[in-house]
Amino acid sequence: MTQACVYVLNGPNLNLLGTREPEIYGADTLDDIAAKLTERAEALALTIEMRQSNHEGHLVDWLHEAQAEDAAAVILNAGAFTHTSIALLDAIRSIRTPVIEVHLSNPHAREAFRHKSYVGMAAKGTICGFGADSYLLALDAAAKLK
Ligand code: DQA
Repeated sequence: MTQACVYVLNGPNLNLLGTREPEIYGADTLDDIAAKLTERAEALALTIEMRQSNHEGHLVDWLHEAQAEDAAAVILNAGAFTHTSIALLDAIRSIRTPVIEVHLSNPHAREAFRHKSYVGMAAKGTICGFGADSYLLALDAAAKLK
């Protein structure tokens, strides 16, 4: 039997994790997070498909792809697009694949412009504020959706 796959989609500026405002986002790079997720996915009998783009349309395309590829779930850290993108809101509403919103920081404890989440309006649930562990907690949640 093929293992269920979880797409892990990352938006703008997350390619700079590790050096980008480490006091907010921590010292882990996106590759470090991918390695931790791969290890946890093995334990959960899942595979992950990890992507990052600074371009909104790529994230829309990959959400569509996740459904076409019959992914079990999508873990989505849309970065700043979280707070601006009606296109991502519509894309999440356009697919049946459950989407789990993730953030390293807790946007609700930050500037007011980060309090609104278009992603969260359509997501199955949101995990934020636990640094890189937010992704691992989201993977645990995704495993329960299988
Ligand atoms: C973020 C929070 C967003 O507000 C911010 O724009 C990011 C990162 C996080 O993971 O904490 O780029 O999504």
